[in-house]
Amino acid sequence: MKRSFFIKTYGCQMNVYDSEKIIELMKRQGYRYSTKIEESDIAIFNTCHIREKASEKLFSDLGRIAIFKENKIKSGSSMKIIVTGCVAQAEGEEIKKRSKCVDLIFGPQNYQNITEALREKKERFNYTDFLCEEKFERLPISTNKEISKLVTIQEGCDKFCSFCVVPYTRGAEYSRSVEGIFQEIKGLVSLGAKEVVLLGQNVSSYKSYVLDENKEIEVRLSKLCQLISKIKGLDRIRYLTSHPKDIDNDLIYEHSTNKKLMPFLHLPVQTGSDKILNKMNRNHSRNDYIQLVSKIRSKVKKMAFSSDFIVAYPGESDDDFQQTLDLIEKIKFASSYSFIYSPRPGTHSSLKHINLVDDKTAEVRLKKIQSLLNRQQSEFNHNFLDSNEEVLFTDRGKKDNQFVGRTQYLQPVHVISKKNLIGKRLNVKLESLTSFSFHGRIIN
Ligand code: SAH
Ligand code: SF4
Ligand code: F3S
Repeated sequence: MKRSFFIKTYGCQMNVYDSEKIIELMKRQGYRYSTKIEESDIAIFNTCHIREKASEKLFSDLGRIAIFKENKIKSGSSMKIIVTGCVAQAEGEEIKKRSKCVDLIFGPQNYQNITEALREKKERFNYTDFLCEEKFERLPISTNKEISKLVTIQEGCDKFCSFCVVPYTRGAEYSRSVEGIFQEIKGLVSLGAKEVVLLGQNVSSYKSYVLDENKEIEVRLSKLCQLISKIKGLDRIRYLTSHPKDIDNDLIYEHSTNKKLMPFLHLPVQTGSDKILNKMNRNHSRNDYIQLVSKIRSKVKKMAFSSDFIVAYPGESDDDFQQTLDLIEKIKFASSYSFIYSPRPGTHSSLKHINLVDDKTAEVRLKKIQSLLNRQQSEFNHNFLDSNEEVLFTDRGKKDNQFVGRTQYLQPVHVISKKNLIGKRLNVKLESLTSFSFHGRIIN
């Protein structure tokens, strides 16, 4: 009987991509994928370090699985526990000390070695070198047939925002080769994918080169989108996450001319206060952001924006917070994520714990910002009622004959149809809205 493995994924979409690759690697080496941890011989935890809650979740999960492993050993069988991802990279030694049940540790740029390490049964415990190039050369293309696929095109980050662990967990910026990305997307499209989401923690700083008649040509995100859009059968291109500093005119132009590039931009601003932006080392002002959004809106028809926000960054006064609310009112976001500041080990802001905002104030601010952002999302959605939108159907719904797809702005749409709609891009009349998702009727 094949040995089976289970994987739990925490954190961002880059981890989702990595987990898919781990599954593919393991399957190709003869392991059986199981969705039940109780039935598996190997349990993999692909972890996130971005906020304290995310990494503490790992340790509580490990506590539970340790007991399970012990019982398995007592009953004469065995279990291997593997930690991958950003906590593995940042706190490999800590995991080893705190959780004796763990057998192997792999950073986000080392998991290509997972099956080899399992086979060799060697004593080495911790695999955390930054081996980006090797990783992408060795990863297989996923055979998981889905309509919308994630494709990592860039890893790491050189921006060093004062609160953020990513430059430490994913290392320096690395852009994959155009050829590698192109081949991966072609492979996915041949398996039925219609949409790709190009991923990077700092995707708008993507930079690579191709040879054209012996001349080296620089390829940035705009050019990459242009090249990819030539792939027949691919309908939609998205990318995530961008930094306001890196959005150049070429990318804006690409949005205005490339029909496959979706008019939706996740552009985190974090705060609306210049004082806090400066402390965060974001390298742009509040006004730069407002101007950028208005420039994009003037050049690209119907562009919508989403963002991330951090509230209660050390030193954030009522007035700073008010400026964030004011910025949100000015921009009007289609959707957003917001978090309470979480001090992370090793980051610049965690070194000087001065002027921490108390928990109660932080909670109040989070509630306030979330209620404003939800209101904006709801207003954004209401404007679509009774309109006809292009929907790409990706999944079956919970009800009989129900299909679920997304508009260009990522709004979920449910439709009843006797025909299988998966993979189809159709015009849908959006007839009703329940919380954040639409119900509609196919036109024609
Ligand atoms: N590369 C992206 C964001 C990556 S992390 C960017 O530059 O915007 C995703 C989001 O997590 C961030 O946008 C931020 O809002 C949040 N985040 C990161 N570190 C955090 C911390 N220490 N505390 C709270 N939220 C944090
Ligand atoms: Fe983190 Fe994003 Fe800043 Fe990079 S740009 S340090 S990933 S918040
Ligand atoms: Fe988390 Fe690492 Fe992504 S810290 S947000 S899994 S890059």
